[in-house]
Amino acid sequence: MKFPQYRPRRLRKDEIFRSLVQETHLRPDDLILPFFVRPGKGMRQPISSMPGHFQFSIDLLVKEVKEAKSLGIPGIILFGIPEKKDELGSEAYAEDGIIQKAIRRIKEKVDGILVITDVCLCEYTSHGHCGVVEGGRILNDETLDLLARQALSHARAGADMVAPSDMMDGRVGTIRKILDENQFEDLPILAYSAKYASSFYGPFRVAAESKPQFGDRKSYQMDPANGEEALREVRLDIEEGADIIMIKPALPYLDIIYRVKQTFNIPMAAYQVSGEFALIKAASQLGWVDGEQVMMESLLSIKRAGADFILTYFAKEAARKLDRGKSFLGPER
Ligand code: PBG
Repeated sequence: MKFPQYRPRRLRKDEIFRSLVQETHLRPDDLILPFFVRPGKGMRQPISSMPGHFQFSIDLLVKEVKEAKSLGIPGIILFGIPEKKDELGSEAYAEDGIIQKAIRRIKEKVDGILVITDVCLCEYTSHGHCGVVEGGRILNDETLDLLARQALSHARAGADMVAPSDMMDGRVGTIRKILDENQFEDLPILAYSAKYASSFYGPFRVAAESKPQFGDRKSYQMDPANGEEALREVRLDIEEGADIIMIKPALPYLDIIYRVKQTFNIPMAAYQVSGEFALIKAASQLGWVDGEQVMMESLLSIKRAGADFILTYFAKEAARKLDRGKSFLGPER
C-alpha cells in the first residue's frame, strides 16, 4: 500500500463511496436518554446548565418517554429528586419513593421502551455522598445493604435493568444475590464499572441536587490518572455478575473504552456525561462550533472506540437527526 498505487482519496470522492466504506454507524437504538424526575404535578423545571433538559414531575415524564420511544430510542435512565433527604437516603429504597412511583407509572402507560434505573444514594442523602457516612468517612460494606434494597425496590416496581453507579466495592455481587433470591434472576445489571471522579459531572449535580456537602468523591470514584485500574474494576464487576459494563465519562476516556473493549468480550456502554453535553451546548450557543455536527462526531467517536451504546443527553436531538439522513457528516439530503 504505497502512493501512487494506493490513493486513499479514491474512496473519499463522493458521498456514495464514503458511505460504502463507512466503518462505524450511529443509529437511534444506540442511544439511551437520561431523565430527572421530581415530586409534584405539571412540573417542568429547566436545568440551567443543561439546555433542553428539565426536572419533570411524573405526569409530564410519561409524555416525554412516549416521545423518546417514537424517535426509536430503546431506553431511558431515571434519576430522582426525592421529597426529602436524610442521612441514610431512605427514599432511595422506599416502596413509594419518587423513582419507584415513576417506574410504575411509566410501565402502566408506555411499553416497548426499557426503563433503566440508577442505583446510588447521593441524590437521597442529606450529605450528598453515595454511601453511609460515619465520622467523615464513606463506609463501604454498610452501604451495600442499602444499595441492594434500592435495586430490589426498583425491580419490584418494574424496572427492566438496574445500574449501580455508587462505586462501592462488592455492590454488583450483592445486588445480583438479592435479585436472584427474589426471583429477579432475569433482570440484568448495567454496572458503572469504571466511573471516574470527574469534574465533568458538575451540571448533573445541579440537576439532581446531589453535590456532596463536604469533601469529594475521590475515596470511591476512580482517579482520572489510572487506566490499568479500570481493567481491574471491570474484571471484578464481570466476576460479580455484571451483564453490561459502563465507562464514564466518555469522550475524555476514549482510551479506557477502547482498552476495555479489546480486553473483555462483554457488552459495553459509555456515558457521555452532563459536562460533556454542556461544553458542546455552550460553544454552540456562542457560535464557536456547529453544535449538531460536534454532537454527532463525538457520539460517533465514542462508538468507534468500542461502546455498544451510549447514555447521552443528546439522545433525542441525535435520534431526530439520524432519522433524516444516512450519513450525517455529508450534506442533508
Ligand atoms: C450518581 C451519578 C452521577 C452521575 C450519574 N450517576 C453523579 C456523581 O457521581 O456525582 C453523573 C452523570 C452526569 O454527569 O451526567 N452517583
